[in-house]
Amino acid sequence: MLILGLESSCDETAAALVTGDRQVLAHRLAGQEAAHRPYGGVVPEIAARAHVEALEPLIEAALADAGVSLDRVDAIAATAGPGLIGGVMVGLVTGKALAHAVGKPLIAVNHLEGHALSPRLADAELAFPYLLLLVSGGHCQLLLVEGVGRYRRLATTIDDAAGEAFDKTAKLLGLGFPGGPAVERAAALGDPRAVPLPRPLLGSGEPHFSFAGLKSAVARAVGQYRAEDIAASFQQAVVDCLIDRTRRALDRADGATALVVAGGVAANAAVRGALEALAADNGLRFVAPPLWLCTDNAAMIGWAGAERFVAGLSDPLDVPARARWPL
Ligand code: KG4
Ligand code: ZN
Repeated sequence: MLILGLESSCDETAAALVTGDRQVLAHRLAGQEAAHRPYGGVVPEIAARAHVEALEPLIEAALADAGVSLDRVDAIAATAGPGLIGGVMVGLVTGKALAHAVGKPLIAVNHLEGHALSPRLADAELAFPYLLLLVSGGHCQLLLVEGVGRYRRLATTIDDAAGEAFDKTAKLLGLGFPGGPAVERAAALGDPRAVPLPRPLLGSGEPHFSFAGLKSAVARAVGQYRAEDIAASFQQAVVDCLIDRTRRALDRADGATALVVAGGVAANAAVRGALEALAADNGLRFVAPPLWLCTDNAAMIGWAGAERFVAGLSDPLDVPARARWPL
C-alpha cells in the first residue's frame, strides 16, 4: 500500500510517500520562515500564496525521490484542517484534483490526528491505547489515543499553546522567529532558577494548561534580568507545567501502554527529558518520534491516511476544508 500525503495547514508545505509497512519512501518539505520573519509570526495570506507556489514541485520531487508515478499510489491523504484556512484549501484542493485525476480515494486527514498517529509510524511496537502529549504552536492537549479515529481529549489549553508561549517569549526577548529553538539555545546559557516565574494551574485537579500568565510574567521580567536567565527560567516553568499536568492525566489514562509526545515542542530536549523521567516513574514506555516527524511534515499525514485506509475510511471529493476541527 502506497499513500501520498500532503500538508499545508500552517507554514510548512510538504509532500511524502508512505507505505503501509512504515516505509517513508520520500518526504519533501518547504518552510516559509524567511517570508514570515519580517512580521514576527505567520501571516496567513503570505502562507497561502507560498503553499500554492511550493506544493506541486514538492509532489513531483517526492514522486521522483520514491521512483514512482502518481498512478501507483493507492490513496491521497491531505490535511483538511484545522489550520489557516487558505493554506488548508491549497493542500486539500490539490489532493482532490489528484485523486480525481488518477481515480484513487481521497482521505481527508485531521492535522491533529496526523500528529497523534505519527509515533506509530516511527515505532511499530506502539500499541493502543497510549497517552499523547501534543504540544505544538497551535495546540497543547493531552489525548488518550484508543484507536484510529478514537481520541479522548483529557486536557487542552485554556489560553495559549505551549509553542505559542515559546514564540511569544522569543519575541519579547528579541530572539527572532521561530521562537522555540531560539529560546532553547538561549536557555542553555542561563540559570533556570534566576527569575521567579509562575506555574499556572500547577496542582489543579483538572489537567488543563494555561500559559498566558507565564507570558505576562516574562514581559515584566524583560530588562530586569539577563535574556538567557529569562529563557532558562521560562523553559523550566513550561516543563514543570507540562509534567504536572501530564502526571494528572495519567490518573485518567486507563490501560495506557506508553507515554508519547508529539508536536513541535517535542523537539525541546528539556521537555523530552522530563517526560522520559515521568514515564519511567510510572513504569510506562516513553516514545518520542524523531525530530523531523515531531514538527509539521507530510509523512505523518500520509501515515494517518494509511491507518484510515486500512480501516476502510475515505472521503467524498466535496469534503470541506476546516479552520477549526476538534479531534
Ligand atoms: O508542530 P509544529 O511544527 O507546528 C504546529 O504548530 O502545528 O510546532 C511548531 C511549534 C512552534 O511554536 C515552535 O516554536 C515550537 O513548536 N518548537 C519548539 C522547539 N522547536 C519547535 N519549542 C521549544 N523548543 C524547541 N526546540
Ligand atoms: Zn502541527
